Amino acid sequence: MTQVSDPRGRPAAGRPTDLIGKPASLIPTPALVVETEALDRNLRLMSDFFACRHAKLRPHFKSHKCVTIARRQLAAGNAVGITCAKLSEAEVLAAGGVRDILIANQVVGRDKLQRLAELARQCRLAVAVDDESQVRQLSAALAETGATVGVLVEVDIGLGRCGVPPGARALLLGRAAAAAAGIDSLGLQSYEGHCITVLDPEERRRQALASMGKAVNTRRLIEASGLLVRVLSGGGTGTYDMTGVMDGVDEVQAGSYALMDHSYAKRRPEFAIALSVITTVISSNGSDHAVLDVGLKGVGADLGPPVLAERPEDTIPRFESEEHASVRVGGRPLKVGDRVRLIPSHGCTTCNLHRRLFAVRDGKVEDVWPIEGSGCLE
Ligand SMILES: Cc1ncc(COP(=O)(O)O)c(C=O)c1O
Repeated sequence: MTQVSDPRGRPAAGRPTDLIGKPASLIPTPALVVETEALDRNLRLMSDFFACRHAKLRPHFKSHKCVTIARRQLAAGNAVGITCAKLSEAEVLAAGGVRDILIANQVVGRDKLQRLAELARQCRLAVAVDDESQVRQLSAALAETGATVGVLVEVDIGLGRCGVPPGARALLLGRAAAAAAGIDSLGLQSYEGHCITVLDPEERRRQALASMGKAVNTRRLIEASGLLVRVLSGGGTGTYDMTGVMDGVDEVQAGSYALMDHSYAKRRPEFAIALSVITTVISSNGSDHAVLDVGLKGVGADLGPPVLAERPEDTIPRFESEEHASVRVGGRPLKVGDRVRLIPSHGCTTCNLHRRLFAVRDGKVEDVWPIEGSGCLE
């Protein structure tokens, strides 16, 4: 008899959604888990911060890549839309019903610009640019669909990634965007990402304000020339209460606050860690060494090894294997079959490795959310 399978070839019998209402201890490992109580608290805290501010949130999808969480971020309020990094993420968001999307990145090449122009028929769409050729090519693609796309000129305020330098170049590009058919010249984007790694909050504030000040000055320069700047979008979890309260900043693109990770927890203790990877011990020497069933293919490690949630005396000194994590056991020995929760160093790269998120509340599986943006790289 032919067995009915889901598109990924799994037998229909063992569907993850069958676990809804059951104890989280039954989730097969390794698995990505979100504690919904912590998630909801994080979303409320961030939304409340922007309740009485001029700036509003535009939460970044890249942190979780899960449309259900994006919708919850919008429902929490004080959010004007969603930010994402890639065209394919924007497509996934639009398919999931999100109606206002910023691709905070440069979309390059005829095929992609055609896709972008097509997508703009379904939702309010904006994109970052830092070169006149992008403006010209986008305008040409839009002529074929008749749609309109918003453009934010990206200004590099010290990160050293994309963007034109602050000042005259941004004005020139803004003028080119304003003159191009099909393009709605919205304003500027600047991300002060080089400041978020600063641990000391006062020093971070000093650096973030100085950096974002360059974008605000550029805004004033453009406005003085007679060109309207409706939006300056930037900021993140590390700086939401710094650059997010600056005069001249309209949108904050924070993403990590929703799920958090152990790197960000040092800088932002007000947000709870809602994300973890549950794993099982598959080997143990019964004393100081144990091995878990997850490695680099299940936990993002670009910011270092994960930590063990309930066992701070145990460590993962190196995290190099694809499917294994070797634990240096400093506390009570771990035995084969024990389940252990790992907190990733970087939630964003971890979510990109998984296809679903088990939503857990009070030890029970509340829901299973697809991570639609997982693997959306183009
Ligand atoms: C363009 C952009 N905006 C905002 C963010 C903020 O994200 P987070 O909340 O993780 O600091 C990032 C992070 O990489 C980014 O690349």
